[in-house]
Amino acid sequence: MLFEPFDNGRLHLQNRVVMAPLTRCRAVEANTPNALMAEYYGQRAGAGLLITEGTSPSPDGLGYARIPGLFNAAQRDGWRQVTTAAHAGGAKIFIQLMHCGRVSAAANLPAGARVVGPVAEVCPGEMYTDTAGMQPHAVPHALTEDEIPALVAEYVKAAQLAIEAGFDGIELHAANGYLLEQFLNANVNTRTDGYGGSAAARNRLVLEVARACVAAIGADRVGIRVSPYGVFNSTGAFEGVEEQYIALARELAEIGLVYLHLVDHSAMGAPEVPASFKAALRSAFSGAFIASGGFAAASAEAALQEGRADLVAFGRPFISNPDLVARMKGDLPLAEPDANTFYTPGAAGYTDYPVAT
Ligand SMILES: Cc1cc2nc3c(=O)[nH]c(=O)nc-3n(C[C@H](O)[C@H](O)[C@H](O)COP(=O)(O)O)c2cc1C
Repeated sequence: MLFEPFDNGRLHLQNRVVMAPLTRCRAVEANTPNALMAEYYGQRAGAGLLITEGTSPSPDGLGYARIPGLFNAAQRDGWRQVTTAAHAGGAKIFIQLMHCGRVSAAANLPAGARVVGPVAEVCPGEMYTDTAGMQPHAVPHALTEDEIPALVAEYVKAAQLAIEAGFDGIELHAANGYLLEQFLNANVNTRTDGYGGSAAARNRLVLEVARACVAAIGADRVGIRVSPYGVFNSTGAFEGVEEQYIALARELAEIGLVYLHLVDHSAMGAPEVPASFKAALRSAFSGAFIASGGFAAASAEAALQEGRADLVAFGRPFISNPDLVARMKGDLPLAEPDANTFYTPGAAGYTDYPVAT
C-alpha cells in the first residue's frame, strides 16, 4: 500500500509516503527561500507529499536562526522555486506554518519584531543564535485578547501567499511546543481569559486560525500537526489531555480540515502516545490521518494495512536518503543522517547525500 497512490477525493498523491517537516536553517538571507532549498526539496520529490520545514507566518515567529518565513513578496517568490521543483518530481507540497512564539531569542528576530506567547513566562532552556551563540529564551509578551485577531490575520496572509507561491496547501504547526501548542497546552497556557482556563478556551486559538485559513484558501488546502503527550519545549501531558484533543479533532473535522498529522516522538525519547488514544483521535477526525515518528518501510506498511493511518511521514530518513521512496521500494539499505549538519548553513549535509537508485 505504501507505494500505491492515495486518492480520497481531496488529496491526490503518487504514494503514501510523506516527508515530515524538517527545520534545516538554510534560509541564510532575510529568512527567504533560495535555489539551494529548491534543489533539496526537488531531490526528495519522490514522496507523495512533501511538508516543508517550519516557516513563520510573522516576523515575530522567526524564533530560530535562518528559518524561512512567508509574510512578504520576496519570500513568496523564493518559495515558488521550491514548489516548482517539488511538482516537477510528481510530489504535492504543503508548507508548515510554524510561529515559534516563546521558543525564541531576541537575537534571531528581525528589527521591530517581538517574542510573544500565551503568558509572560519564559520557556526553560536555551536557543542558538548566529550572533551570540547559545542564549536563554526571551521573556515573551503575553498576547492580549485584543491582539489575537492580528495574529490570526498573519496566518491568513501566509496561507494566501502560500497559494500564490504554488503550494498545494498549508500545515498548521500546532505541535512540538510552538505558539499554537503553547495555547493548547495547560502546563504552558495558564491564562484565565477567553483563551485559557478550560479545554475549550485552550483550543480556541487553533480553531480560530483553522477556520480563518479555511475561509481564505479552502478546507482541502489546510492540514494540521499536533503532538499530545509531547514534551518538547517544556510542554508535557496534563490532566484531561485526551479529552481536549478528541474535542479538538472533532471540531477540526467539522471545519473540514484535509488532514490531521499526529506526532509520536517516543522513538526520540518522548513518552509513548497510547495506541488507544491514537485510534480515538483518528476516529474523531474525518479527513486523512498521517502517522509519524520512528517509522521504517515495514512498520509503515503495517500501520496502513491495519488501518492505523492513511499516510505515513518519515523525518530523519529523508534527510540522508533523498531517494527514500525508491530505496524503500527496492529494499535497499538506508544511509544514516549526520546530526552535526542538521541546522548548519550551506550544502554540506543538505543537498550532498547521494542517491542509491
Ligand atoms: C532536524 C530536524 C528538524 C525538525 N524540524 C521540524 C519542524 O520544522 N516541524 C515539525 O513539525 N517537526 C520537526 N521535526 C520533527 C520531525 O518532523 C519528525 O516528527 C521526527 O523527526 C520523528 O520522525 P522520524 O523518526 O521519522 O525522524 C524535526 C526533526 C528533526 C530531526
